[in-house]
Amino acid sequence: MAIIDFKGVERVFHQNGKAFVALKDLNLQVQDREFVAIVGPSGCGKTTCMRMAAGLEHPTAGTVSVDNEVVTAPGPDRAVVFQAFALFPWKTVWDNVEFGLISLGVDAAERRRRIEHYIGLMGLGGYEQAFPHQLSGGMQQRVAIARAYVLDPKVLLMDEPFGALDAQTRTLMQEELVRLARKHPRTVLFITHAVEEAVYLADRIVVMTGRPGTIRETIDVKTIRQAEHWDRHTRIEDVMDEPSFVHLRSQVWKLLRSPDGGPDLH
Ligand SMILES: Nc1ncnc2c1ncn2[C@@H]1O[C@H](COP(=O)(O)OP(=O)(O)OP(=O)(O)O)[C@@H](O)[C@H]1O
Ligand SMILES: [Mg+2]
Repeated sequence: MAIIDFKGVERVFHQNGKAFVALKDLNLQVQDREFVAIVGPSGCGKTTCMRMAAGLEHPTAGTVSVDNEVVTAPGPDRAVVFQAFALFPWKTVWDNVEFGLISLGVDAAERRRRIEHYIGLMGLGGYEQAFPHQLSGGMQQRVAIARAYVLDPKVLLMDEPFGALDAQTRTLMQEELVRLARKHPRTVLFITHAVEEAVYLADRIVVMTGRPGTIRETIDVKTIRQAEHWDRHTRIEDVMDEPSFVHLRSQVWKLLRSPDGGPDLH
C-alpha cells in the first residue's frame, strides 16, 4: 500500500516575473515501511518534493497524499529532518527530543520510556542535559533523528540530513541509520547528493532529472541487497566492496551523468 503518493505533481515558481516549471509529471509511490532515496542534480526539485510531502509547499497541479489523505499542511504524522540540525538551542537534548511528544499529548511515563529508548539507540546516553552548542555536529544530528523517530510518525522526511557532517561522522551516522531502519522499519523519503549513501541506505533509489524536474528512473536496491546478503556486513566499507554494490553505484552514476540526467563533466 502506498503511504506517500505523488500523483501528476507539477510546481511552477515565479522568478523575475517569469513562470518557471520546477517540477513536472512527477509520479512516485512510497510503500509502507519502504526507504526511498531521491538523487538528482542540484536544483532539480528534490527539496521542493520534500516540502510538499511535509505540507510546507503546495503543488500547482496534481496531489501529494500521505496515507490516502491529500497533504494541505504540516502534521504530526510526518516528521522532518533537515540538513541544518534545527534543534532548539535553549533546550537540552532531553527537552529537544521531548518537545514533539508533549505537543502530541503523550503522557509523562510513555514520554520517558520512548525518549530513553531513542537516546540510547542513538548513542546519546549521558548527554541528556547537554545543550546543542555543547555537542558536535554529528551528535546534534543524532538528536534531530531521535527527535523524529521518537514521535513514531507514519512518515519520515529527510533532506540531506548528513550533508553538513565530515566524512567519518557521516559514515557512522549512515551505519546508525541502517541499524535503526532495520530495527524500526519506517516509511522514509530520503534526499541525498551522495550516490553511495543512497545505495547503502535505500530499498529503492529514484533518480531525477532537472529542468523541469521529474523522475528519470527507479532502481530496486532491496532485492539485490537481500539476494547478496549485504546485511552480513556491519561496516559500510565492506558493503561497498561487494560487486553488486559497485554495479548499482555505477548504474546510478551513469543515469546522473548521461545527457538527460544533468551535466557530464568529463
Ligand atoms: N520559493 C521558491 N521560489 C522560487 N523558486 C524556487 C523556490 N523554491 C525553489 N525554487 C526553485 O526550484 C528549483 C528546485 O529547487 P529545490 O530546492 O527543490 O532543488 P533541489 O533539488 O533540492 O536542489 P539542491 O540539490 O541544490 O538542494 C530551483 O531552481 C529553485 O531555484
Ligand atoms: Mg535541496
